[in-house]
Amino acid sequence: MRIGASFLRVIGFSIFGYLFLNWVGTTGETSIFVEQPWAWAILGCIILFYIAGEVCTEAFKSILYRSLKPEAKRRYDDKQAFAKANQFKWIKEKYKASLGSKAIEEEHEIILDHNYDGIKELDNDLPPWWKYSFYATIVFAIFYMVRFEVFNDYSQDEEYEIAVAEAKIEIEEWKKTAKDLVDVNSVILLTDASDLKAGKTIFTTNCVACHKADGGGGIGPNLTDNHWILGGGIKNVFNTISEGGRSGKGMIPWKTDLKPAEMAQVASYVLSFQGTTPSEPKAPEGEIWIDPDAPKTEELPAKQVQDSTKLNDVVEVAATNALANN
Ligand code: HEC
Repeated sequence: MRIGASFLRVIGFSIFGYLFLNWVGTTGETSIFVEQPWAWAILGCIILFYIAGEVCTEAFKSILYRSLKPEAKRRYDDKQAFAKANQFKWIKEKYKASLGSKAIEEEHEIILDHNYDGIKELDNDLPPWWKYSFYATIVFAIFYMVRFEVFNDYSQDEEYEIAVAEAKIEIEEWKKTAKDLVDVNSVILLTDASDLKAGKTIFTTNCVACHKADGGGGIGPNLTDNHWILGGGIKNVFNTISEGGRSGKGMIPWKTDLKPAEMAQVASYVLSFQGTTPSEPKAPEGEIWIDPDAPKTEELPAKQVQDSTKLNDVVEVAATNALANN
């Protein structure tokens, strides 16, 4: 019995320890036990200490017991026996009450007149747990009916729309923390000053040797004009940076050195060269690139195109289109 109790305590403590570590240590989706395998070692140590503690208290108790006088020993045993008999008394009583059954000695009070070949019938009450659950469903039904049938709070369609809208917000939130998940299909032009600044740093570190700091070009082509060998626009530029240029030309795939988020930043920075005038521009190479997905913006006044110095998707496309039409 004693061993049984401490055994249960150790198991309970282990489960608690696991859940607790999981709770305090886990950031994000993956459990700490997956992310940091040493968490198992910590848990193991804690459990070991706990077991040692249990063993010590048990040993201490047994020494104390042995040192008791016979009279005291008997009193102690009685007390233990009493405690054992009354263990879970409250739960047992509540359970019995919830069944509402009559004790076998009192069954004669509820026996019915029927007697079929010696088979008799008891007129038991419904068990309270059943009866009150049933009442609860009635109360629930009234509220439900008034709320949804009388006042038409919301329909299932609306509930669905709300859930979808909430999920979309969650996805947006999640995307903010998961920038590294961009790929060539999901990449978008970044316009935040912080992203462009980061892009500039990456460009200065890795790319200026061949493309020049102002993008005018050297070993690599001019990045400021609207001619592209491998296609313009954020998706193509991202792809070129990630996968490299044509083989033998010198533009290596950068995906092994740069994270996807960094490639998106440097690609956006590269595109911010569009329309600037470098000090020694290399002659245009490749084709003028027109965004196939661009909305038709040919009607945009030419003045507006000239005025805009700031990089902006629409203007960029408009300028490209205007030039293409000349
Ligand atoms: C060793 C020299 C070298 C370095 C370093 C280099 N590039 Fe290039 N880059 C080139 C060459 C050469 C090409 C042309 C590839 C081709 O013709 O296929 C090119 C092409 C490109 C293109 C496509 C241009 C077009 O017209 O389609 C982009 C965009 C580009 N590089 C960006 C970068 C970025 C961003 C970096 C830094 C992370 C970088 N490059 C580093 C040599 C280099």
